Amino acid sequence: MPSILVLGATGFVGAAVIRALNSTHPDWPITAHVRPQSKHVKYLLENVARIAEIGDWTEFEAIKNLSSEHDIVINAGNSFTADPVTAAVAGLRQRGVKNGRKGALIHISGGGNFIDFGTTGAFNPESKVWDDSKVDDIKAIHKDMFNGQSDTVVLEAGATGDIDTFIVCPSVVYGRASVESPGIGVGWQLITSNAKSLGYVPYLGDGSAVLSTTHIQDLVSFLVTITGRAASELDTGSAYERFYMLETERVSWKALATTVAAILHREDPATFRSPEPKRVLEFGDEAGRGEVKHLVAANMLLTGPRAKSVGFNPTGKSILEHASEDLKGWGQL
Ligand SMILES: NC(=O)c1ccc[n+]([C@@H]2O[C@H](COP(=O)([O-])OP(=O)(O)OC[C@H]3O[C@@H](n4cnc5c(N)ncnc54)[C@H](OP(=O)(O)O)[C@@H]3O)[C@@H](O)[C@H]2O)c1
Ligand SMILES: *[C@@H]1O[C@H](CO)[C@@H](O)[C@H](O)[C@H]1NC(C)=O
Ligand SMILES: *[C@@H]1O[C@H](CO)[C@@H](O)[C@H](O)[C@H]1NC(C)=O
Repeated sequence: MPSILVLGATGFVGAAVIRALNSTHPDWPITAHVRPQSKHVKYLLENVARIAEIGDWTEFEAIKNLSSEHDIVINAGNSFTADPVTAAVAGLRQRGVKNGRKGALIHISGGGNFIDFGTTGAFNPESKVWDDSKVDDIKAIHKDMFNGQSDTVVLEAGATGDIDTFIVCPSVVYGRASVESPGIGVGWQLITSNAKSLGYVPYLGDGSAVLSTTHIQDLVSFLVTITGRAASELDTGSAYERFYMLETERVSWKALATTVAAILHREDPATFRSPEPKRVLEFGDEAGRGEVKHLVAANMLLTGPRAKSVGFNPTGKSILEHASEDLKGWGQL
């Protein structure tokens, strides 16, 4: 019976994974790392996990120690920086030395790594489609990608062979109503806060550029599968053969912006005067602030034959159908 630690346990993904693991493996002990100031969902975790309330991710020693007490650590907290994954790696290494049995890390990355940096908002049939079954694609992941700071730490740790590592990489995750999450997750957060700061929902050019999306239930079932594989030490390949790209559906930015504009107008008509999206003609701040303008302008192209080969089988309904429920009460979130 493996013991499991979840970082980011009160989050959109973390809380859903904990509940799914407990329902599939009710006898597996799960620890939920929660920072003291978290206002979210302790009620969702009651009875399904032991709560470890320690400091936030700046507490390297505390997270390292907590990780060293578990067989498997799932990082559902942060993929934009190297913490907390560096602390988890250090803790699992220490456990391996003590127990003679390797610890395993399951890290959640994100499809933002794999945008083509197009600047026209149009679909580009020439763009590279990143493929999880191509080891060279995984080796090409670098620190300047959206989730590169954390992914490279995990891949390097896995390559040493001291710990077993797995990286599960969903694209934009949606479907909060289906998992009763109070939070909308970082994907929706990015899209809607960008729109809020602009006062409209943008698409660029003809809006045919595509965004990859992943239903939370599809992600969560796959995480349960991978946790099972980590527990039974089924995978013997290298760290570069344990990177899984997940996608439920690709949507065009125009279709997404059109759907979201009507919903945000319904939720917050004072900010969103129009129920229509705004067509932006030039790449720049009118499409988004900072990094987000790249998402709006580019294509996110990934494919996951390796994930499918170990059981990823997406069945979630479209983000376009979920958006209305996902963003209900958005002004109060
Ligand atoms: N949602 C998506 O579209 C998506 C797509 C691809 C990848 N991902 C990745 O999946 C992971 C989970 O995303 P999510 O959407 O579930 O995020 P989320 O709902 O924002 O959850 C983040 C979790 O991390 C905790 N946390 C945040 N800052 C912390 C800090 N400084 N110290 C300790 N804990 C902290 C939060 O706790 P509090 O309750 O205390 O705030 C919460 O439990 C992230 O790594 C994300 O990049 C998400
Ligand atoms: C899993 O959840 C059930 C309730 O559904 C609970 O009785 C059980 O103790 C939980 N398992 C663990 C390990 O906490
Ligand atoms: C971490 O564990 C070490 C060794 O058991 C201990 O000395 C140290 O005080 C712990 N630190 C924290 C912050 O828990």
